[in-house]
Amino acid sequence: MIGIIAAMNVEMDSLRSHMENTETEVVSGIRFVRGTLEGKEVVTAVCGIGKVFAALCAQTMILRYQPESIINTGVAGTLCDELSIGSIAVSSSVVQHDMDTSPLGDPVGLISGINKVELPANSALAQNLSACANTMGIKTASGVIASGDQFVASAERKAFITETFHAIACEMEGAAIGQVCYVNHVPFCILRAISDSADGSSHMDYPTFVKMAAEQSVNLLRRYLRTC
Ligand code: ADE
Repeated sequence: MIGIIAAMNVEMDSLRSHMENTETEVVSGIRFVRGTLEGKEVVTAVCGIGKVFAALCAQTMILRYQPESIINTGVAGTLCDELSIGSIAVSSSVVQHDMDTSPLGDPVGLISGINKVELPANSALAQNLSACANTMGIKTASGVIASGDQFVASAERKAFITETFHAIACEMEGAAIGQVCYVNHVPFCILRAISDSADGSSHMDYPTFVKMAAEQSVNLLRRYLRTC
């Protein structure tokens, strides 16, 4: 069974509308819908916004459903020239841009205990998702996806994340899902279509493009499931 997590309904609704033989269960306040999608067994969840909800959801999904892998679908702000609105960022790894114990001498972003800044996504999953996007004519880039409990909406914060982590996109859940998957040895990948440029214009672009971008990510995921 493949686990699919989105933060918001707008990132999940259309995917769920294509599911068959569904069964619903609420665990830890999260509604899990399992069933088949494009002929594959899946379990889906809308986790809510931010790293804590994302971690809660990923851990609960792993314990309750033992997914073979988890894919996070949704939208992100772009941090690089290759990704414009509607393009898709595929994670090679994830970082938490708001994790900071540097006053104690650590590198910015270090996850104490694990002792890493970047957590690797599953490379086969990432490559297959990127290849699928190519066949659909969707522009993608693969690289570091940065998560934090903030909507990035200034040139200064964007520059900090780009320069510190060389990230290609920013969002608010992927790295939390990645950390939970990492400690549980569950392969994961973050798939995010670009809804805004994570700068002074993002509060205008995001509401305009969020639905279209969310659809783009769902369409790619459905195509991937059909062929994997
Ligand atoms: N998700 C979509 N756009 C985002 C942004 N600019 N910052 C954080 N999360 C996002």
